[in-house]
Amino acid sequence: MNLHSNWHLLLPREIEGIHRAILVTCLLVFSGFHISASRAEITCLSNADENTEAFENFNAEYIDLEHAPWMVNLSLGGEPFCGGAIVDSGLQFVITAAHCVKKYPKSDLWIRIAAPRGGYSGESRRVVSIRSHPRYYDKTKAYDVAVVKLDRAYSHVEPSQLVPLLPKDQAHFWAKPGDCARVMGWGKTTEYSSASEELLQVDVRIWPQSECKNSNGVAIGPHSLCAGYYRGGFDSCGGDSGGPLLVQGGNFEKFIVGIVSWGRDCGRADYPGVYTRVSEVRDWVYGTIKEMSETSN
Ligand code: ARG
Repeated sequence: MNLHSNWHLLLPREIEGIHRAILVTCLLVFSGFHISASRAEITCLSNADENTEAFENFNAEYIDLEHAPWMVNLSLGGEPFCGGAIVDSGLQFVITAAHCVKKYPKSDLWIRIAAPRGGYSGESRRVVSIRSHPRYYDKTKAYDVAVVKLDRAYSHVEPSQLVPLLPKDQAHFWAKPGDCARVMGWGKTTEYSSASEELLQVDVRIWPQSECKNSNGVAIGPHSLCAGYYRGGFDSCGGDSGGPLLVQGGNFEKFIVGIVSWGRDCGRADYPGVYTRVSEVRDWVYGTIKEMSETSN
């Protein structure tokens, strides 16, 4: 999660434990940069706000298990390398990015929920099977989505807490250009740092598709969406891939509208984060889960 383009929040890895905690606290206090307790409302900055003081005061936030019970990470046992979300189709399936699951054999993967205070090593599960979208194309990251079946469901999550994938016929309603969306993950807080020890979230603005196409210099089809700020600064980053981008629907309901896929570095001005457009792959995800539920792998 990139916090601010000129912000080097994470410290070198050799500074560990308590020293690191004290230093981080001092940096935060003396810099005037705040990471506050989590807000329920998803609120990003408008295009016009970007040139005001509001941008300087804009925050990323720490979150804990209670506020993101569906959030998971993928690791080989240590630091996470990707995020994911438990799908509202039973408690045994996770949605993530296809590029996250192609690197390692499934037997090496651990899928973990957040620790109670937002750390990355909460309850963990092993992987039974993985399906990547048949149209996933590594070069362009088109259809960057995969479904992972866990060896058993998570016991700390209630089905009612899970967030549905945005239906296609509601996409024009809840994921419009200019709307605010929230992305979360344990990814890097600057392009040059390591993964975050805490789960972070930041609210970003969904870009018009035409601007999304023109930025980044590569073809971005209707299967992707862009989000971020023209000024940069707040973005997902390496290690956040696979994690969910959420919007607020009506009645406090949230929807998953995107999956962190790629970007040109992190938080750069004029280069938004690129997300898999969930409304375009939703039927495939639910259909695949149904099929995987009916087979033993
Ligand atoms: N590909 C990265 C990952 O594997 C995610 C990058 C997202 N980048 C961005 N600027 N939003 O974690």
